[in-house]
This record gives sequence, C-alpha cells and structure tokens, in this order.
Amino acid sequence: MSTSETDTWRTSQLVELSLTVRALEPEDLTDLGWSGGPEHLTAIAEVLQGCWSGDTESVVIALPNGRLVAFGAVNFRRSPDYGELWMLSVHETLQSLGLGTVLIRALEARVRDRGLHRAQLGVEHDNPRAYRLYRALGYRDCGSRVEHWPAAGGNTYVTVCTVMEHRLTDTV
Ligand SMILES: CC(C)(COP(=O)(O)OP(=O)(O)OC[C@H]1O[C@@H](n2cnc3c(N)ncnc32)[C@H](O)[C@@H]1OP(=O)(O)O)[C@@H](O)C(=O)NCCC(=O)NCCS
Repeated sequence: MSTSETDTWRTSQLVELSLTVRALEPEDLTDLGWSGGPEHLTAIAEVLQGCWSGDTESVVIALPNGRLVAFGAVNFRRSPDYGELWMLSVHETLQSLGLGTVLIRALEARVRDRGLHRAQLGVEHDNPRAYRLYRALGYRDCGSRVEHWPAAGGNTYVTVCTVMEHRLTDTV
C-alpha cells in the first residue's frame, strides 16, 4: 500500500432521509431557483395557477428540513386522453439517486387519479441520460415535435423533442 493511500482517511455513513412528496405551494417558488432562471420560475408560477384551474398538477419532493430537491408537473391541456409529464427537474447535487424515478411515479399517480391511462413526455434530442431513464421506466417513442419556451433576454429557445408514451397500469 502506498503512503498516499495509508494517509488517506475515508469513511462512509448511511443517513436515512424521509422525503415528503406533495403538491407545489406558492411559498415554494423561492426555493426552486436551482431549477432554472427567472423565465423558468415564471413558468413554474404559471403551473401553480394551472393547478388552481385544474389544468395542471404538480409534485415537489422535500427533504426533512423542508428544502425542495425535485419538481415536476402534469399538463392536462394538451389532450383529454393523456397527461403530459412536464418540467421534470432534480437538484443537480442529488441526481442519479432515484429521486427522478420517485418524481415520475408520483406524477403518473396524478394522471391515474384523473381516470387516464396514458402518460406522455417530450425529451430533447440531445438529452440521452433522461431518455435512458424514461425508457427504463416504460416510456416508448411515439413521435417528435418542435418545442419552444422563453429564454433569457427576451429570446425564445427552440428545440426538437422526442415524444414518449407510457401506458399506465394499476400496478406500475
Ligand atoms: C432527468 C432527471 C429529472 C432524472 O432525475 P434523477 O434523480 O437523476 O433520476 P434517477 O436517479 O431516478 O435515475 C437516473 C439514473 O440514476 C440511476 N439510479 C437511480 N437510482 C439509483 C441509485 N440508488 N444508485 C445509483 N444509481 C441510481 C438510474 O438507473 C439512472 O441511470 P442512468 O444515469 O444510467 O440513466 C434529472 O437528472 C435532471 O433534473 N436532469 C436535468 C434536467 C433534465 O434533463 N430534465 C429532463 C427534461 S426531459
């Protein structure tokens, strides 16, 4: 064993965290700055309004200290036949730990609660990691479309998304 290895002191600790999965509330907006710029926060505020009118549903995941680490929504405006999972985001330092999976399953439950059995989402053509996750969770390609949303400086961000669909059963 080299000197540098014996000098290195490492330990691992297991910390059990109880996560709260719940709907977005107005006071949450100040704790979602990590998920995007001002335009993104405006879009999240619009989701909140949509929740009040019944057009959207939202899910946040909170740590035991109340801090938010994930956000996502379901858009029911696009079609009466399915819910569109939308704006999926997990805090950068906590990705690849399973939170995205918890978030997506919670959003799918909101789709089922409306009596719908199909969930769709759009993933940008250059986001292979998210695409792999959606495939692993049962989503399959069903088309593509151009999407656009407001960006910094009054610009519009335009991108091509693969549309994916998952048929929801009562158990998955
Ligand atoms: C896409 C996103 C929402 C997924 O959330 P996530 O918390 O990273 O998702 P998960 O942890 O459930 O799964 C992601 C990966 O971690 C792996 N994973 C899940 N639980 C794990 C665990 N306990 N230990 C190790 N790896 C795990 C999954 O197998 C998956 O593997 P992959 O990287 O090979 O695909 C998140 O990465 C994100 O916010 N990305 C930036 C924004 C974005 O791209 N949003 C999607 C727009 S369509």
